[in-house]
Amino acid sequence: MAVQPTPEDRFTFGLWTVGWTGGDPFGVPTRAALDPLEAVRKLAEIGAYGITFHDNDLIPFETTAAERELILKNFKAALTETGLKVPMVTTNLFSHPVFKDGGFTSNDRSVRRYALAKVLTNIDLAAELGAETFVMWGGREGSEYDGSKDLSAALDRMKEGVDTAAGYIKEKGYGLRIALEPKPNEPRGDIFLPTVGHGLAFIAQLEHGDIVGLNPETGHEQMAGLNFTHGIAQALWAGKLFHIDLNGQRGIKYDQDLVFGHGDLTSAFFTVDLLENGFPNEGPRYEGPRHFDYKPSRTDGYDGVWDSAKANMSMYLMLKERALAFRADPEVQEALRTSGVFELGEPTLSAGETPAELLADRSAFTEFDAGKAAERSFAFIRLNQLAMEHLMGAR
Ligand code: GCO
Ligand code: MN
Ligand code: MN
Repeated sequence: MAVQPTPEDRFTFGLWTVGWTGGDPFGVPTRAALDPLEAVRKLAEIGAYGITFHDNDLIPFETTAAERELILKNFKAALTETGLKVPMVTTNLFSHPVFKDGGFTSNDRSVRRYALAKVLTNIDLAAELGAETFVMWGGREGSEYDGSKDLSAALDRMKEGVDTAAGYIKEKGYGLRIALEPKPNEPRGDIFLPTVGHGLAFIAQLEHGDIVGLNPETGHEQMAGLNFTHGIAQALWAGKLFHIDLNGQRGIKYDQDLVFGHGDLTSAFFTVDLLENGFPNEGPRYEGPRHFDYKPSRTDGYDGVWDSAKANMSMYLMLKERALAFRADPEVQEALRTSGVFELGEPTLSAGETPAELLADRSAFTEFDAGKAAERSFAFIRLNQLAMEHLMGAR
């Protein structure tokens, strides 16, 4: 491994990632099941900070209360033994056939009540394990046919589900926040709240939106043809980047869940630049875990599973080294200045300037030489080439 990760790097992995056995719609699993306790031990061994999971990744769907107790007892023992944390917990509202038309937005009310009770029960478990974030990915909340869903009612039900969960967290006094995870499609033909933008607009309508934010995923924004770094930047700007799913995606296709950086590497560089350096001017910072949500290719055995887990952290740390060097490079600082990146941090109006005073400023408008201003070169290409040279380790 190029650089050795430590728990201080706060890398976390979903149990469902290293635990993915390779089954897909076109083929059966290619790997044997992974014991969650083995996953805890191996992730701690390679330097991870934490493990996250869906309720049913750890506690199978048909588990009795007694079996559940034993599973949790052994899981907690492994966490204590290794020091691994559980910063995030989430709920499986997508695998069992009962959720085939969704959980919170199923047309079947009995299924919605079941899904909501399953989430509330899982919130108790998340709090018991000391999690800070409760992720909600609505994988089955969507449709294949526009006529099959009353979309206003679907959003009402989604709001009802999320607000009920958030209200429950407040009522119980749990130190949890909810992070909604947008995705445009797959497994549903179209998933509700498909992008960061839709998620932010939805949160604004909630009663308990103060403890609801987002868990954007690299590949999900890119599946919609959007810029992931722009997405997390707007979530950060809105104070709603509560968690993050890092992985790799190569273009607009099915959710590839590649190792972080194994998809669009340039995008990954600027994602790490934002997460580790912050905005070029004063701006909000993301202080949460660096969480990987990816799938070890079904082509590989368990050697590939652990190689891929290490690769996620290695890619991140190598990109971090280069992103820190990029911003520390005097030539880059000069290029950022020339390109006006710091100038953008200056408010357009002077302190206390009124619209009338702006209009009265002849140099700003009536006598403004637009032709001359248009001659300015922003020299973005030089700035980007400097970034690429740092990314390539050529500086
Ligand atoms: C996916 C999603 C999921 C969620 C997970 C946490 O495309 O399957 O990314 O992996 O992140 O269910 O809620
Ligand atoms: Mn995904
Ligand atoms: Mn995800």
